[in-house]
Amino acid sequence: MRVLALLDGTLVDPEAPLLRADDLAVTRGDGVFETILVVDRAPRELGPHLDRMEQSASMLSLPLPERAGWERAVRAVIDAWPWDTEREMALKLVCSRGVDGGDGTPSAFAMGMQVGEKARRLRAEGVDAITLDRGFAPDLRQRAPWLLLSAKTLSYAVNMAAMREAEARGADEVLFTATDGSVLEGPTSTVVLARGRTLVTTPPSSGILRGTTQGALFRAAEAAGWTTETRLFPVDELFEADGVWLASSVRLITQVRTVDGKPVAVDPDLHAELLGRYESNY
Ligand SMILES: Cc1ncc(COP(=O)(O)O)c(C=O)c1O
Repeated sequence: MRVLALLDGTLVDPEAPLLRADDLAVTRGDGVFETILVVDRAPRELGPHLDRMEQSASMLSLPLPERAGWERAVRAVIDAWPWDTEREMALKLVCSRGVDGGDGTPSAFAMGMQVGEKARRLRAEGVDAITLDRGFAPDLRQRAPWLLLSAKTLSYAVNMAAMREAEARGADEVLFTATDGSVLEGPTSTVVLARGRTLVTTPPSSGILRGTTQGALFRAAEAAGWTTETRLFPVDELFEADGVWLASSVRLITQVRTVDGKPVAVDPDLHAELLGRYESNY
């Protein structure tokens, strides 16, 4: 199931070709994207997603089309989605630098897709994760902004390769680590751990993407009296925590069961509380 819209709000055939072969999305992965969860017609964290896409585009010096166009496309896809049979939709916003050697007009579209069966299953069952070296230090982002760390670019081949590596090793997920041994993020998720009534996540200054789901969870948890910390932490701290989760728009707040084959604390009540806090935003 796919629903595809352009930024003027028109729907186009999702099975027909849309981009030229010389589009810089195709030839260089030169562009930005977002994936937004829509539940019962309501897009979650739309403002933070659009803000983040603007930040990503600015890091790439990419002229992003105006926000009204994205909102028009989002509305068109939501209006055309079969909500009677599909309660959830993963909505991708994509913008590339356009045709190689062209006039600089970006290529942009919004596409709604079903949430995959595997993502739904892992939400319920939790995941086994492995740590994989991401190969950079947590201060690299400041030293080398051209590496585009913390931008959500269309160049996700490394992230997908890491997921295949996890699969090859019999795991579901990856926790990237920095060269100093601290935990960064998942290939498509933010790492959150709980210690008592404190939630901890990694700072975006270390080169990770600022997570909209983690932001929503922390917002709701703080309102309920939790303390939140944004700081670097070593892999060892995962095993001392009361629970570890991977947060993202599509996977929501998914519990981590093991890291590198070793169990981390799993508390169903704590998991239910955090999921409930996150859901209380909507
Ligand atoms: C690298 C990376 N980190 C974190 C996230 C989680 O972000 P969000 O919660 O905004 O979906 C994503 C989402 O795909 C991601 O690609």
